[in-house]
Amino acid sequence: MNTQHLANDVSSIVEADRAHVWHQLTQHAPFFTGADPRIIVEGKGMRVWDINGREFLDAVSGGVWTVNVGYGRESIANAVRDQLVKMNYFAASTGSIPSSIFSEKLIEKMPGMSRVYFSNSGSEANEKAFKMVRQISHKHHGGKKSKILYRDRDYHGTTIACLSAGGQDERNAQYGPFAPGFVSVPHCLEYRNQYPDAEDYGIAAANAIEEVILREGADTIGALCLEPITAGGGVIVPPKNYWKRVQEICKKYEILLHIDEVVCGIGRTGKWFGYQHFDIEPDFVTMAKGVASGYAAISCTVTNEKVFDLFKDDPSDKLSYFRDISTFGGCTAGPTAAIENLRIIEDENLLENTQKMGDYCLAGLKELMNNHDVIGDVRGAGLFLGAELVEDRETKKPMDEAKVQAVVGKCAELGVLIGATNRSVPGFNNTLCLSPALIATKADIDEILSAIDQALTAVFG
Ligand SMILES: Cc1ncc(COP(=O)(O)O)c(C=O)c1O
Repeated sequence: MNTQHLANDVSSIVEADRAHVWHQLTQHAPFFTGADPRIIVEGKGMRVWDINGREFLDAVSGGVWTVNVGYGRESIANAVRDQLVKMNYFAASTGSIPSSIFSEKLIEKMPGMSRVYFSNSGSEANEKAFKMVRQISHKHHGGKKSKILYRDRDYHGTTIACLSAGGQDERNAQYGPFAPGFVSVPHCLEYRNQYPDAEDYGIAAANAIEEVILREGADTIGALCLEPITAGGGVIVPPKNYWKRVQEICKKYEILLHIDEVVCGIGRTGKWFGYQHFDIEPDFVTMAKGVASGYAAISCTVTNEKVFDLFKDDPSDKLSYFRDISTFGGCTAGPTAAIENLRIIEDENLLENTQKMGDYCLAGLKELMNNHDVIGDVRGAGLFLGAELVEDRETKKPMDEAKVQAVVGKCAELGVLIGATNRSVPGFNNTLCLSPALIATKADIDEILSAIDQALTAVFG
């Protein structure tokens, strides 16, 4: 790493951070009783360096499933730089060359979908879909079909509307009152089976959605919003038969299906999109994090033509089109970085690598179960994996969250950054999370698994 500028700067930077920066998802008190905030200053490939020159292997792609193609990609930086000096911004009521090219390339990967609406964050992309559902309700259903269903344990973002659609009670706590018209359906985590007598858990979990629809009245419900594989709620891969039944239910009751691909999208699970594992036909697909791997802020709300048509059917009505603007949805840096990000994934065969390395990592986690009884379950798809820690495999009592965090801390001491579900589902912040960049090699995975092995031994003996 380049340490030239560091010698004189370190303490002043750390002190400025301590004095003025408000970090996300962070209790700051320890920074005033001895601990320093971690400041990351450089990245290359799978590795990052902190301000003290300490090297880490990043097994969480920038902390939150984002840097899919790894750090230090000069081709993305160069493409963005060239675009910025030519044309950096104009409001997205007009077009731009990068947004046009990226939309076309993206839609090629999404058969059945056709329109891309640009904004800046996953939360915002989801808000756009919620607004579209509400406007469709006003324009086409006389105010009926306005409710939006979301699932227990899923997360869709940080704004008040997204939290209203949030199935993680600890994330939501203290931020209410929430927006009306969002209704929860049960989770589908088979390891925590709510229907032990059911013959087929997947069908039972999907039927639980139908029960909510019948209770609320199908004519009140406009959309069902789901993560294809739940991320921060515990890395939950829906059980067999679940998605097919969910799709049938949506068709039967004319409910639009909104898939939140903010985490799974753009290769994370070994396919372009998580929903493509399950033969689903969505009406909305939202995406953000990996779209430009964090080289620029970009999110997309993608719809099919059926949805798009509902907003251009009556040009004589001055309120009938989608009257939404996201100022920075007009930045050209996002789609420019996203075009290059897609090219890298294709040219370097990163989907294939993700499948292979994901299988290898999952097998390695399963092997760790032989030596560590605290691992109750491992699950995931591609390079999107979780290991749920329990006090007892029989009772499945969730592991004390302080101990789960101790494992994360020990891995960092060993030079590997992993994650854990955090302030998410009360009592169930007990799943270790792994999401290395899609470029991970066997050696990287071995290093990650070895750190987890050592950390589990250090914390639990
Ligand atoms: C599934 C999912 N949807 C939406 C979001 C919100 O994205 P953002 O933080 O970019 O607003 C997140 C963030 O973690 C997420 O995990």
